[in-house]
Amino acid sequence: MYKGIIIYKSKYGASKKYANWIAEETNLKVKEIEDVTVFDIEKNDIIILVGGVYASVFACYSFMKKHIDVLRFKKLAIFCVGAADSDDSYKDALMDDSNILKIGEFFYGRGSMDIKNMTFRDKTIMKLVRKALLRKKKHEDLSIDEGKLNADDMLDMIDNSSDWTDKSYIVPLVSWFNENNK
Ligand SMILES: Cc1cc2nc3c(=O)[nH]c(=O)nc-3n(C[C@H](O)[C@H](O)[C@H](O)COP(=O)(O)O)c2cc1C
Repeated sequence: MYKGIIIYKSKYGASKKYANWIAEETNLKVKEIEDVTVFDIEKNDIIILVGGVYASVFACYSFMKKHIDVLRFKKLAIFCVGAADSDDSYKDALMDDSNILKIGEFFYGRGSMDIKNMTFRDKTIMKLVRKALLRKKKHEDLSIDEGKLNADDMLDMIDNSSDWTDKSYIVPLVSWFNENNK
């Protein structure tokens, strides 16, 4: 049995929800990323990072970059939470040039979107994305590189609040944990 911790970064709550679901199934403790110290990472063997995806960037990315020298020697799982209906191309798009995300095992769960509750900045981004989509939709069936999102799906997400969170998304991660905790 190893020592482990779940670390999450969540702007709108979906990643926090997944972190708590994972805690229920693994009995690991949960900590918000802002409260995590180097000591928390050093003293644990299994680290599970849970975070939202914003503009194709994993929320825990800069944390990973900062602590890469310690994290690379841990059993590390990365659980990304996004709006897209994920497939392998989504995963590849999230992987960066410096291979930081590749030091962990990748998992994915769908999050939620509610434009009414977004910060002013995020609302503005969504409105700009919406405008661009409507313009492009006139000319082509737009598909977004980082996932199976076409223009209509994207517009629907922006216009209507949606919650795709589902506990079944954590099943592969929990299996990974059980395998690595022997
Ligand atoms: C500004 C902004 C950008 C986003 N960009 C992406 C994206 O590139 N890919 C994606 O799948 N989801 C994207 N989303 C959706 C979020 O990943 C989704 O809302 C998720 O639930 C966020 O996690 P949180 O609820 O823990 O904050 C974006 C959301 C916002 C507000």
